[in-house]
Amino acid sequence: CPIAILISGRGSNMRALIDACAAPDFPARIVMVLSNKPDAPGLDIARAAGLRAEAVDHRPFGKDRAAHERAVDTMLREAGVELVCLAGYMRLLTPFLTESWAGRMLNIHPSLLPAFPGLHTHERALEAGVKLHGCTVHLVTEVMDDGPILGQAAVPVHAGDTPEDLAARVLEQEHRLYPAALHRLLRPETSPSAEDGGSLLVV
Ligand code: GRF
Repeated sequence: CPIAILISGRGSNMRALIDACAAPDFPARIVMVLSNKPDAPGLDIARAAGLRAEAVDHRPFGKDRAAHERAVDTMLREAGVELVCLAGYMRLLTPFLTESWAGRMLNIHPSLLPAFPGLHTHERALEAGVKLHGCTVHLVTEVMDDGPILGQAAVPVHAGDTPEDLAARVLEQEHRLYPAALHRLLRPETSPSAEDGGSLLVV
């Protein structure tokens, strides 16, 4: 399946997907990486991996989110993309993009949704005193950090954890979860066993 990855920053989840797609039996192939930020470090990582990586800067579009999305959508379609993975893409999406890619756009979020949608999830998890935290891969709908859940991975919260400690523990699981959830969605019959009891990764 030809996929695109949309990023805004460092691109570590993108890199996990690039690594997964390098395996000959993985059911997705990355045709382009797009960023709304021309200086996103992830673009260089993608180019170093030999991928087409481009920016569609949102700034010239001002407040016209839909116009920026139309530009993104045109590039995706011209490249023959069939599925989009948001990986740290820090833009609120309008119904234009969510509807045109309904069922074909995934996002990774650093919490066990429906807990802690939005930003600063690790700080908020610590404030709430939860003992389990984690990450979620879900289909994108019009509502931010909502939509059918495809997989989750949980990690323990330890006494004395800082938000950075927790972020690092969750990020390690994000890098396992995203490829696993994508594989399961595209080719359930060959995806590795759905439940990984050891780390509570479930797709
Ligand atoms: C990740 O924590 C992801 O869950 C969130 O934004 C962060 C992006 O990190 N949506 P990276 O760019 O993939 O390293």
